[in-house]
Amino acid sequence: MDTPITVLPNDVQATIARITGEIEQHLIAVRRDLHAHPELAFEEVRTAGVVANELTRMGIAHETGIAQTGVVGIINGGRPGPVLAIRADMDALPIQERTDLPWASTKPGLMHACGHDIHTTTLLGVADVLHKIAPSLAGTVKLIFQPAEEAIGGAEQMIEAGVLEGPKVDMAIGFHNYPHIPVGEFSFCPGPALAAADMFTIEVHGKSGHAAHPYAAIDPIVAAATLITQLQTVVSREMRPLHPAVVTVGAINGGIAHNIIPDSVVIKGTVRTLHKEAQDIAERAIQRMCDGAEIAMRTRCTLTYERGVPAMLNDDRVLEPVVEAVRKQLGDVIHRREPSMGAEDFALMSQMVPAFQLGIGSGAPGRADRLHNSGYAPDEACIGLGVQALARAAVEILA
Ligand code: NI
Repeated sequence: MDTPITVLPNDVQATIARITGEIEQHLIAVRRDLHAHPELAFEEVRTAGVVANELTRMGIAHETGIAQTGVVGIINGGRPGPVLAIRADMDALPIQERTDLPWASTKPGLMHACGHDIHTTTLLGVADVLHKIAPSLAGTVKLIFQPAEEAIGGAEQMIEAGVLEGPKVDMAIGFHNYPHIPVGEFSFCPGPALAAADMFTIEVHGKSGHAAHPYAAIDPIVAAATLITQLQTVVSREMRPLHPAVVTVGAINGGIAHNIIPDSVVIKGTVRTLHKEAQDIAERAIQRMCDGAEIAMRTRCTLTYERGVPAMLNDDRVLEPVVEAVRKQLGDVIHRREPSMGAEDFALMSQMVPAFQLGIGSGAPGRADRLHNSGYAPDEACIGLGVQALARAAVEILA
């Protein structure tokens, strides 16, 4: 454990840059190790072990086994102040990696294709930097290493396990790497930035019969086709035009033969909204259209509508100091982006405490990588840059 460093106010930029430079190669080695050993949601046993070993090596107090495989570390500043949580996700995806990198996944069918290995490593770097300058901080940093983001369940279980309490979190920062943003650049989106992601399943019940005698049957296939067409009017005719929404039918299953009208058809889809009002409108409209199919088409429709993660809300009280901190540390490298209809479960934390998710560019020069792609290969320089940005944000917020 190193002697803690007290940072003079006019020396913050250089101190963070210097410490990050000293640990960057080690962080890249940790990332490559995590990348070679991906683990799915709630199975992050080895990953959590690496995190705990690193925190122990740094001398940072931590608890393991939170929400099964989560780890939470605590850094106390030299003076009292607010509690700032910084959250990283740790899980991988069921994707077969198709890169030739020496640190490619050693596990068939599993890959860190969303860069959660990058996120875990970045938060370890932030921990190391902040621990070294802890006497200069007024407040507490809670390091949240969360399992199971991809399965959308990790944040919920971490919250249920009390991760936002004891000490009570006053604000939270999340972050995600974005390969469509060049490495060295960052992004922010005020207000609702990621969508609420709901799922619906509609069972269209008809009456089976011979295809040659449709008058003697109730055809759920034609009813399903009509219903799917009607669903296209939820967004176009019922939503306020400035409230973004998506209704997508992703699956339709029914019937087995040319000459049989089946008993039922199952439709599955997703609803993405940024505003609670739009979410309510969509659910009610889909229910109404299902009900209407009984009168119009004689088919009884049963709707199962499941509300998933809520929209992620970026709060100006966290966003503004973080954006300012990134500019102070790294220059004019952070730009406003549009909201996305993607979803992520940091949104649950953003519904409970003021929060902000920082976008970190990870696109390597000359490449056009995409998340959740088997060839995904982010630029590892994003780790050190992310460490600098997030450590500086903590320093500014806990000034
Ligand atoms: Ni992700």
